[in-house]
Amino acid sequence: MKHFTNVKDIGDLSAAVAEALEVKRDRYAFTHLGRNKTLVMIFFNSSLRTRLSTQKAAQNLGMNVMVLDIAQGAWKLETERGVIMDGDRPEHLLEAVPVIGSYCDVIGVRSFAQFESKADDYGERVLTQFIEHSGRPVVSMEAATRHPLQSFADLITIEEHKRTARPKVVLTWAPHPRALPQAVPNSFAEWMNATDYDFVITHPEGYELAPEFVGSARVEYDQRRAFEGADFIYAKNWAAYSDPNYGRILSTDRAWTVDAEKMALTNDAFFMHCLPVRRGMIVTDEVIESPRSIVIPEAANREISAQVVLKRILLSIKN
Ligand code: CP
Repeated sequence: MKHFTNVKDIGDLSAAVAEALEVKRDRYAFTHLGRNKTLVMIFFNSSLRTRLSTQKAAQNLGMNVMVLDIAQGAWKLETERGVIMDGDRPEHLLEAVPVIGSYCDVIGVRSFAQFESKADDYGERVLTQFIEHSGRPVVSMEAATRHPLQSFADLITIEEHKRTARPKVVLTWAPHPRALPQAVPNSFAEWMNATDYDFVITHPEGYELAPEFVGSARVEYDQRRAFEGADFIYAKNWAAYSDPNYGRILSTDRAWTVDAEKMALTNDAFFMHCLPVRRGMIVTDEVIESPRSIVIPEAANREISAQVVLKRILLSIKN
């Protein structure tokens, strides 16, 4: 594996899940792989799970890890080429990226959508510059349009909990007070569409995701109907994608909050969310604290998804 930015980079999903379960059985079987290898993790945005799970995964493989928070102590970075740099950004990404690459063997990057330009966000301006100019394998730790380490962990979690070969998986929009990127729902849809699951997306009108991510999913505007017979409910908020409302909040309707009454419509479904989650907005306390909530094992699987990805990259560096 050269870079990890989307579902195609992981190849065969059954093989990836089998490898994940093998890693989970013995996370220290490959501590020799990362000896004298360094991972630098660059955060343009906040993180709890990604930061800790990816660092732990790298350490399980024997790697050294360095973390740089761009907002705390690093020079503010200009990302656009051709600008007169007379503002508050003293360093350009075009110098910073190869410099970072010179200190490490693998780079992880977290850089969310800015909602200033759909073209910039969906062109993955920051992630692309790391891939083009670092000279190192790059792992997306959530970019503007995708969060593949999360989606891989979600897939592992579903495979561990499913009770039928082809479960019904429902991605549901839920309300949130701030405008959130489409990266998690886009990515989840991309990975679910790569399985043979019965995959349904439900959201209010106006919240349609980009067609390339909706893919072959069924879209259902009636949330209750979507929940009927579901085996997994995956809740997430996202801001509008379609123009002219790109990046805007169109609704905070708490009728879309996942509650026990809606969960009762399902096939005793498991509740999933990538976290962090706003209780009372996305989901009720009752649902997230119920025995059907698997948000904690889902988050724990972030270590496993990161370890499979880093292991494959280390193997490709060695070969
Ligand atoms: N799910 C997830 O990526 O969590 P963090 O934002 O805390 O890393």
